[in-house]
Amino acid sequence: MTLFAGKKGLILGVANENSIAWAIAQQILEQGGECGFTHLPDREDDERKKNRRRVSKLTDNYENAKFLVPLDVQNDENIREVMATAGKEFGQIDFLLHSIAFADRDDLSRDTIETSRDGFKLAMDVSVYSLMAVCNAAQDILAPKASIAAMTYFGGEKCVPGYNVMGICKAALEAAMRYLAYDLGPKGIRVNALSAGPLRTLAGRAAGVDDMLKLYEYMAPLGRNVSHEEVGKTGAFLLSPMSDGITGEILHVDGGYNMMGSPGRLLDRMESKS
Ligand SMILES: NC(=O)c1ccc[n+]([C@@H]2O[C@H](COP(=O)([O-])OP(=O)(O)OC[C@H]3O[C@@H](n4cnc5c(N)ncnc54)[C@H](O)[C@@H]3O)[C@@H](O)[C@H]2O)c1
Repeated sequence: MTLFAGKKGLILGVANENSIAWAIAQQILEQGGECGFTHLPDREDDERKKNRRRVSKLTDNYENAKFLVPLDVQNDENIREVMATAGKEFGQIDFLLHSIAFADRDDLSRDTIETSRDGFKLAMDVSVYSLMAVCNAAQDILAPKASIAAMTYFGGEKCVPGYNVMGICKAALEAAMRYLAYDLGPKGIRVNALSAGPLRTLAGRAAGVDDMLKLYEYMAPLGRNVSHEEVGKTGAFLLSPMSDGITGEILHVDGGYNMMGSPGRLLDRMESKS
C-alpha cells in the first residue's frame, strides 16, 4: 500500500470519473502518493465552473490530492504557472502523467485524407506538442529518477480506420516520447507511453471506441476488453520506481490485441456463421 510513499507528482488530464488519468491517479493516491491535478479551464461565462467541479468532486475525497488548478496546454504561460504551483507545493516532483488529447469532431469524422490544415495543427498542438512543452517546463522541478508517462493508442502504430487524424497524432506522440526519453536520460529521468485498449471516456467516445470494443472482445487473446482499473495499475507501475530501468518504451494494456497478426478467433466466429 506504500508504493508511492513520499512520492509527489502531477496528474494532467482528468476530466471526470471515467478519465484514464483518474484511473491512474486513484492507484497512486491509494498507494500513498501526493498528487497535484489540473482541469481544463472553465469559460468565463460558466458560473457553475463545470470543468473544475467535475474534477474537484473526485479529488476532494483525498487528503493527498494537494491542489487543483486550470491548465490549457495550448498556453505556455499557463503551463509555467502550473509548474510554479507544483514547485511551491512539492519542491520537486517524482512523477508526471500526460493524459491529454483533442481533435475537432469534424476532423475525426471525415476521412484522414480530408483533414483540414487548422484541424491538424490543433490536434497536433494539444495531443503531441503539449507533451514536449510540459516536459520542458517541468525540467527544473523534475527529481532525479522522476518518471513521465503519456497515453497512446495502437492507431499510432497501424492504420485503425475511424481513428484518422488522431492516429497520426499518436505516431508523433510516440516518437516525441522516445526523443524526450533520450534528452532526459542523462538526468536519470524516464519517459514512457502506455498504449491502452479502448475505454469508454469522453475522448474515447469521440475517437470511436464504441465500434472497437466488440472487435477487441473477439480478437484479443484474452477475449475481453481491459478495464479502467487495469490501465490504472499499469500507469501507476510506469510512474513508480517499480519500472526503474524502463524508458522510451510503449507498454500495451490491451488484452494482447496489438500482437495479433490475423483476426484469430474472430475468424472462427465468421466461419461458423458462413
Ligand atoms: N479512451 C480510450 O479508449 C483511450 C485509449 C488509448 C489512449 N487514450 C488516450 O488517453 C488520454 C486520455 O483520454 P481519456 O480517454 O481518458 O479521455 P478524457 O476525455 O477523460 O481525457 C482527455 C483529457 O484531455 C484534456 N484536454 C483536452 N484539451 C486540453 C487542453 N487544451 N489543455 C489541457 N487539457 C486538455 C481534457 O480536459 C481531458 O481531461 C488521451 O491521450 C487519449 O488519446 C484513450
